[in-house]
Amino acid sequence: MTRKILLIASVLSTIVVIASCQPAASPAGGNTAAGLKTIWLDQLDVSKALSGTGPTKANKSFDGNSITLAGEKYEHGLGTHSPSQFILALDGNAKRFYAVVGVDEEVRILQQQRQQQQGFRRRGGTVEFKVVGDGKVLWHSSVMRVRSDPNIADVNIVGVKQLRLIVSEVENNYNDHADWAMAKIEYAGKKPYAVEPVVVKPYILTPKPGPKPRITGPAIFGVRPGNPFLFTVTATGSRPMSFAAKGLPDGLSIDSATGQITGSVKNKGNYTVVLIAKNDRGIAQRNFRIVVGGTIALTPPMGWNSWNCWACAVDDLKVSESAKAMVDTGLINHGWSYINIDDCWMRMEQQRGDPDPNIGPPARDPNGNLILNAKFIDMKALVDYIHSLGLKAGIYIGPGPTTCQGYVASWQHELQDAKQFAEWGFDYLKYDWCGYSSIVKEEPNLEEMKRPYILMRKALDQVPRDIVYSICQYGMGDVWKWGEEVGGNCWRTTGDITDTWPSMARGFQQAPLAPYAKPGHWNDPDMMVLGKVGWGPDLRDSGLTADEQYTHMSLWCLLCSPLLLGCPLDKLDEFTLSLLTNDEVLEVNQDALGQQASRIVQEDGREIWAKQMEDGSTAVGLFNTDDYSKQRITLNFADIGFEGKCLVRDLWRQKNLGAFTGKFTAEIPVHGVVLIKVTKF
Ligand code: GAL
Repeated sequence: MTRKILLIASVLSTIVVIASCQPAASPAGGNTAAGLKTIWLDQLDVSKALSGTGPTKANKSFDGNSITLAGEKYEHGLGTHSPSQFILALDGNAKRFYAVVGVDEEVRILQQQRQQQQGFRRRGGTVEFKVVGDGKVLWHSSVMRVRSDPNIADVNIVGVKQLRLIVSEVENNYNDHADWAMAKIEYAGKKPYAVEPVVVKPYILTPKPGPKPRITGPAIFGVRPGNPFLFTVTATGSRPMSFAAKGLPDGLSIDSATGQITGSVKNKGNYTVVLIAKNDRGIAQRNFRIVVGGTIALTPPMGWNSWNCWACAVDDLKVSESAKAMVDTGLINHGWSYINIDDCWMRMEQQRGDPDPNIGPPARDPNGNLILNAKFIDMKALVDYIHSLGLKAGIYIGPGPTTCQGYVASWQHELQDAKQFAEWGFDYLKYDWCGYSSIVKEEPNLEEMKRPYILMRKALDQVPRDIVYSICQYGMGDVWKWGEEVGGNCWRTTGDITDTWPSMARGFQQAPLAPYAKPGHWNDPDMMVLGKVGWGPDLRDSGLTADEQYTHMSLWCLLCSPLLLGCPLDKLDEFTLSLLTNDEVLEVNQDALGQQASRIVQEDGREIWAKQMEDGSTAVGLFNTDDYSKQRITLNFADIGFEGKCLVRDLWRQKNLGAFTGKFTAEIPVHGVVLIKVTKF
């Protein structure tokens, strides 16, 4: 819709609001002048509406207040939260859909409360409404925020059999309380009714690993000379299993029971080692390259981070439980290794009405050292525990005076904090810009953007430990162009992810960034939203359908993105576990060549992405990005530089599909993927 029409709609809205607050022009269930009947949507079975964050309400806002838009209260309507979808069956004889839409006023109050309590406003409350008839977008709103004038949807639905009312998030889905006020349908034939949305039930493709040993994880590992070495050889297969490594450089040894290689190597050099895993069913061997030099994170980090599940409800028990679960669920056997604590482990310089006890002030001791808040007791002990399991540990802070959640950060304490992290034993640091906004002017130039990251890089270079440096500043200033120059091992290329298709589909926007990814330096479109998420104490299932979750995992692997799980590992269901334990899929992410996939086809809801692998094969994702229909997608082998006959293997099913000549075609469900490996015959 053009701007002009929207403006007219906004002006009209004021008039219509007044009219529609009166008794309905055509009372629900009654006949209009033209013999049409009218039904309010709140008279339908609203429980069938699908919403990512909680139930849609009839005649109430999402939080249960009166529906209120721009100061007007409405007696009828639906209060929902993005992402949401309400599907209605019509018989083709309905004529008109009508609603006044916008973000409910209660969001303004929520934002004010947060400002008072925590000193900053939470972004969000930004949505778009769509009316879709039989798969075609018939109407959409402008991007709406809490102060936007309401938009009016007055839509001709003649002939439509299925009507979908969709609210999608725009920035993220915080505070997206969206109202379809005065929503009604005028119809002639059968009464419209609400339909259960088609939910793609989780279906498992990953075969269970066999009992024989199979070595997993990366085939290459980087370490700096003299720094502590920790790498755990991982393998699937029945236990007990013993491990060995032939040709380890001086200074390293392997624990045959746990597979942990520890020690340190003095001299720079490349060492090829043979890893061995043995059980009563057989023996597996694999070459492994240890590169002692200046670069670490030679393959993308794989692990867990506390944010997408717990946000500020994280505590040391939840962290240690996740570490233990990484072992107990067997995830560790597939190469998952980092356990990263995100924001909210420190104290605050000033109390801001946070209900948490013992969070400050002061935030630092008299010597300027960081102090833990009450949820963390002994960071060194926690990290030691994580290491004892053969895992690695990560921590979060930022360059400003405070973190994103208002806790103390490293401003003017960079070296001291880096030393502290090294003493505690951390192996990974996420350094988040957020509170640094108070140090620079609103539109920082490139040099100002780089400065804090260079400062912390210098600090990290002074500590005797390999700490993966994860730059988090949401992609400002095209960080991918200079992330390596400031010493980052990975850099966030986007804002925060949420568990919805539009948010996760950011992965498809990463194509121009491919040239900047390489071993030791990775683009990071944010952490994963598989399994249960919640950003707080209460968790829910990811809002992604099963097919969208396959797409998420496949795309992040093709993109060489860091794989950081955001779900509690001690609460994994079978489906999620199957998504995380497919070694052939994970190999795409961990491939030693470190080449990020390129998009080779993009047309009408079809995308093909191809990633060159070290063994000469190409991993290819065929993605259906269409919202409504399945798609047949054809890969022409010539597009990936192959000619004639090629072997195609389905990586999720771990099954050879056979030899194909010239091309390969697959049918892909809505928002789904087929991930294959193509090898020249
Ligand atoms: C955001 C960051 C999130 C999370 C959060 C913690 O800035 O993008 O990933 O770390 O801060 O407050």
